[in-house]
Amino acid sequence: MTNEHTSRIPGFYKRTLAERAAMVAQWAGLTPEEQAVLLGLSGLNATQADNMIENAIGVYALPLGIATNFLINGQDYLVPMVIEEPSVVAAVSNAARLFREGGGFTTSSDEPVMIGQIQVLDLADVYVAAGAVMAQRAMLLAEANQVGGSIVKHGGGARDIQVRPIMDTPIGPMLVVHLLYDTRDAMGANAVNTAVEHLAPFVEQLTGGRAHLRILSNLSDQRKARAEGMIPAGELQSGNLRGVDAVRAIVEAGVFAEVDPYRATTHNKGIMNGIDAVVIATGNDWRAIEAGAHAYAARDGQYTSLTKWWQDENGNLRGAIELPLAVGIVGGATRVHPTAQIALKILGIQGARQLAEIIAAVGMAQNLAAMRALATEGIQHGHMRMHARQLAVAAGASGELVTRIVQAMVAEGNIRLERAKALVSEMRK
Ligand code: MEV
Repeated sequence: MTNEHTSRIPGFYKRTLAERAAMVAQWAGLTPEEQAVLLGLSGLNATQADNMIENAIGVYALPLGIATNFLINGQDYLVPMVIEEPSVVAAVSNAARLFREGGGFTTSSDEPVMIGQIQVLDLADVYVAAGAVMAQRAMLLAEANQVGGSIVKHGGGARDIQVRPIMDTPIGPMLVVHLLYDTRDAMGANAVNTAVEHLAPFVEQLTGGRAHLRILSNLSDQRKARAEGMIPAGELQSGNLRGVDAVRAIVEAGVFAEVDPYRATTHNKGIMNGIDAVVIATGNDWRAIEAGAHAYAARDGQYTSLTKWWQDENGNLRGAIELPLAVGIVGGATRVHPTAQIALKILGIQGARQLAEIIAAVGMAQNLAAMRALATEGIQHGHMRMHARQLAVAAGASGELVTRIVQAMVAEGNIRLERAKALVSEMRK
């Protein structure tokens, strides 16, 4: 990698959209066809949409932005993010720059193991049934691999069987059989569902019970990704606020989310602003990621924060995140959606675990950005400027006029559509 291949691009936001697109195209070596997709000249078309879902009548577009400054395990990344909310991309880029000053993010992840569930009912003795399943563990794993197809060819497949008796339920005792299945570079829902459907009759035979639901679990807690990072206290200094005081303020904000579910929900929502944006950009199933993240946040019985923040022995700010991240780079919409393919290319992704780790880092950076704003100047300060921008555009402004109207409204402290409209007609005169 050359020195120019850095994701630290000062003033990226000041460029025009076309300039930014050209810079990213050069960074990632995008073809003219791929560049045309980014600029909305081609991309997901109605025919493709018609093949993706039922009753399609068109396509729905969202902004695709690039987060800069990410340094993860010593490698630079430009991160594609699909999101409708202003401020998110700017905030995460700024946070990534702060972490960069502390050496960037360090990440890790588990093997891409998913859980498939089989619910077994009508059992005479749940514990005897559980024993019978475990006694035939090897046979069940081999059977699951029989229907594994390309994932098994690529070194994935069945890894383990677990049994979970649940005695006290409104319909009586049940046995839940888990198949642990390594899906390699796929999200893996199809492979896991195929495997558990195939195993169900064997489980019925072994237990004498009735196999009811057979479906993957979105609490993919065998497939977690982690990120950690440090921000030197001095980087957090701003105005009259000393760096050490900013560190303390951010730690206080983090602890609020650790102890209070009402705050944790909003705190985690901010994390998901970053996570979902990359998950969507890369064509992954964001409902699955959301469901898994929130269930994981409640794993100890009380919903809590997905991140931890503390002051280290040198007085600097440290953060860590861990959550299930079942994302793939093959199959599903990642394959079909032309922009998802380009997003993966911009990231330079080699494997699903690498993608999960980047997403974890983005989630943590997004969290830091929100907490820093909340713990210092408050969230509205930055938001109002973007809001003003949207109002100026809604009022009919374009180009340079947008900036002038934003400046005027912010200076007046009067950020409303009516004012934007009035300014448009005043300034056009
Ligand atoms: C807004 O989309 C996200 C925040 O509310 C997150 C947070 O409160 O930490 C700013």
